[in-house]
Amino acid sequence: ANERTLSIIKPDAVAGNNIGAIYDRFEKSGLKIVAAKMMQLDDKKAGGFYAEHAERPFYNDLVSFMTSGPVLVSVLEGENAIAKHRDIMGATNPKDAAEGTIRADFASSIDENAVHGSDSAESAAREISYFFNEEEVCARTR
Ligand code: CMP
Repeated sequence: ANERTLSIIKPDAVAGNNIGAIYDRFEKSGLKIVAAKMMQLDDKKAGGFYAEHAERPFYNDLVSFMTSGPVLVSVLEGENAIAKHRDIMGATNPKDAAEGTIRADFASSIDENAVHGSDSAESAAREISYFFNEEEVCARTR
């Protein structure tokens, strides 16, 4: 089915000048970028985004990493976009990420792992609306 998913290029990948290389992988995979904005997250915005992890031991480090520099938040659209995006990102821990995936090539640790992607249709809907209003997501007419 045609789907939308939320992508975040995290502060480590932005700082490493890897935005273009990561966008290239999205586009080469057939995913279309239908919304994008660079943002400096604060504790409230990053903490709210990751609220489901609030009780996990890594939560404070996660929020402080996600606020350490700008992120590029995007909506990607395409056939099977949620699973496709997860496939090209690779495993959460770059040590486990398959060769040729974004995390294998650009991430340094499970904490600084270059990208985030929605893990289900429900989280995609929630995550997209957390960052974008409807007018900011552009339908592709060509
Ligand atoms: P992300 O997909 O953005 O969702 C939550 C993030 O928490 C995850 O990527 C990792 O970068 C980070 N994290 C740190 N430790 C863990 C862990 N043990 N399990 C899952 N995620 C972790």
